[in-house]
Amino acid sequence: MRHINVPRNSNADPESSEAIKPSRRRFLQSAAAAAAVTAAPLAHAQQPAATSAPPPPTPTTAAPLMPVKLTINGHAYEMQLEARTTLLDALREYASLTGTKKGCDRGQCGACTVIANGRRINSCLTLAVMHEGESIVTVEGLANAQTLSLSPIQKAFIDHDAFQCGFCTPGQLCSATALIDEFRAGDASAATADVRYRPPQLSDDEIRERMSGNICRCGAYPNIVAAVKTVAINKA
Ligand code: FES
Ligand code: FES
Repeated sequence: MRHINVPRNSNADPESSEAIKPSRRRFLQSAAAAAAVTAAPLAHAQQPAATSAPPPPTPTTAAPLMPVKLTINGHAYEMQLEARTTLLDALREYASLTGTKKGCDRGQCGACTVIANGRRINSCLTLAVMHEGESIVTVEGLANAQTLSLSPIQKAFIDHDAFQCGFCTPGQLCSATALIDEFRAGDASAATADVRYRPPQLSDDEIRERMSGNICRCGAYPNIVAAVKTVAINKA
């Protein structure tokens, strides 16, 4: 128990001082005792536990890495990836090709669209290991690297002012590039009137349906449709 020394008041009336001394001393002693009792649990709580602390949790071991070979925009890549790595993350984080955008990361926006072995896919919905040996084209691979010229669809997007912020544009460009090839190959869509016959031209409805997996929050849809239509007509 702690003791509190009470200084004597030399100016006080000796008589009255003596008179109050016993009760005052008792009061101060009681108060000190109460304070010590109250503080004791707190002081105890602030002390580190006397018993030995439980051992720290064992760190989980990293997932094993797997070699993944991809040809991206004509260049060979060999990456060491966890099996759970999406193709989108492999492109952005390991191949440093950040043109492909991560919008929703759950297959809803189309910002991550790339072309794998000629087919457009949402790269956030597929694992990189599933594309071992495949040829991937991203927005960085659409232009002609030799002539340093933009692809027809890239030029058309500029001519038709088919973007505002541009976040969705890499996915729109890859999607439109594959769309035109799909149409020329005779693939039907939900908007095709008679799936037995390829329509002679892509109508606006056809383009809207075939591009419906690519969301543009800036609402540049009319200009995107116009750009795609221009290229489709010239390629038909
Ligand atoms: S990021 Fe892949 S669909 Fe949105
Ligand atoms: S241009 Fe901004 S989201 Fe499409």
